[in-house]
Amino acid sequence: MTVSAAAELVGVTKRFGSVLANDGIDLAVARGEVHAVVGENGAGKSTLMSVLYGLHRPDAGHVLREGRRVRLRSPADAIAHGLGMVHQRFRLFPELTVAENVVLGAEPVARGAVDRAAARRAVADLGERYGLRADPSARVGRLPVGVRQRVEILRALYRRAEVLILDEPTAVLTPGEADRLFEVLRTLAAGGVSVLLVTHKLGEVLAASDRVTVLRQGRVTGRFTTAETTADELVQAMIGRSLTATATHRPGAVSDADHVLEVRDLSVRDRDGVARLSEVSFGVRPGEIVGLAGVAGSGQRELVDTVTGLRTSGAGDTGQVLLGGTPVRPGRDRRVAYVPEDRHGRATAPEMSLAENLLMGDQHEVGGWRLARGVVRARARDLVERFSISAASADVPVSALSGGNAQKAVLARELSRHTPVIVVEEPTQGVDVGARERIHALLTEARDRGQAVLLQSSELSELRDLADRILVMYEGRVVAEYPAADATDALLGQAMTGSAA
Ligand SMILES: Nc1ncnc2c1ncn2[C@@H]1O[C@H](COP(=O)(O)OP(=O)(O)OP(=O)(O)O)[C@@H](O)[C@H]1O
Ligand SMILES: [Mg+2]
Repeated sequence: MTVSAAAELVGVTKRFGSVLANDGIDLAVARGEVHAVVGENGAGKSTLMSVLYGLHRPDAGHVLREGRRVRLRSPADAIAHGLGMVHQRFRLFPELTVAENVVLGAEPVARGAVDRAAARRAVADLGERYGLRADPSARVGRLPVGVRQRVEILRALYRRAEVLILDEPTAVLTPGEADRLFEVLRTLAAGGVSVLLVTHKLGEVLAASDRVTVLRQGRVTGRFTTAETTADELVQAMIGRSLTATATHRPGAVSDADHVLEVRDLSVRDRDGVARLSEVSFGVRPGEIVGLAGVAGSGQRELVDTVTGLRTSGAGDTGQVLLGGTPVRPGRDRRVAYVPEDRHGRATAPEMSLAENLLMGDQHEVGGWRLARGVVRARARDLVERFSISAASADVPVSALSGGNAQKAVLARELSRHTPVIVVEEPTQGVDVGARERIHALLTEARDRGQAVLLQSSELSELRDLADRILVMYEGRVVAEYPAADATDALLGQAMTGSAA
């Protein structure tokens, strides 16, 4: 007798116009396993997960639940069949409590009214069972991202999900939160829940999964038992080659030229008068990459917003930001290239074409959109090629690009502007290993051309690989500075939590 899989995708094919996103994919997830799904940007991972969750109807193929064929016409169908999905952009109501969010739409009822006590109890019980601690009465809007994600998981479990899909769940988490998430996933699996985990971080795959399926260009190119594979073997299946010997840190030739970016005694307050930056001072020279480390909310956001000119100074702000000796221009200083973390909100106009997005901000230089269609297209072709952005054509809206390709598009646009200063946040979040290598090379090249780079990243290894110096922020101050070569996880971690010696 064969034991049927908890869920199985059989021969799934899905096209978007001329793009074959999934091409006859078979994937079975066993009961109680953590099954990782990896592959390059655009390989078809999210599409496949959307088919399983009833968000996309496949052109061919079908889904089995415990050996039986199910029709998934919508997420409601998927939920009814015990499938759950944790979305990257959380779908929670900040004004409601944890318990209210968890039961929303499926409230327990007693005597014709919502049974609030039962809701809180259910949340507490599930939390207890799976190590998903969250205060049922807390307002979601006040919770850190890691806890909000737990609420999303609780929502799915409350609806009796037996198969849980997580698409790049750690992209929004700090390393500590990610570790806690993996503990939860292990507990869920031990309790019989099947977990499908999409991620680009091979370290996570090796540490947290039981089996791995690798996709490439819409097809399965590898199936592995995690304990019997290596990162290199996975990379081979993902991109068809090994990574070049990891770009060990290659320090740049930092000139002793003056700082092209200089932050002097900067203090800023938010609207409520709370100090967000206190007496921050540092400089970045041409040909230098300065890394910014810190737990989320330590002032990085305010610092970046001030350096790029996005933040208009408020009452009580003091100090200066100088670019090449003159103050940064409010609004958005064009002398600074900026690759924001939130690539959808801040960096792209999702409904405009890739070509238009690649030129955005520079359209006046070519005489406006309409006048210069040829220029727009030529520029787009060049950047698509140089940055290996994979898209059906330059005319597709950016919203149709996979996450990693959207990120490459923003980098392509910003790095090709050859500004004296580049500010980058989380440059490789959500991008595949090959693209990560490429993006690191592009940033190093920019540095070698003499651009000054300010790099914010929550990945300490990324800071070490790229930066010459690392500044650590804590509660709005720069509390430590290390040459990249000396910045161990332990040292950085201490400084990031305010416990540096
Ligand atoms: N709604 C859509 N319309 C048009 N094309 C789409 C749509 N969704 C996905 N695609 C295309 O299908 C292919 C697979 O995309 P998908 O989002 O599944 O990739 P992915 O493996 O999740 O990539 P990433 O790692 O970047 O998230 C890509 O070429 C993408 O551009
Ligand atoms: Mg995806």
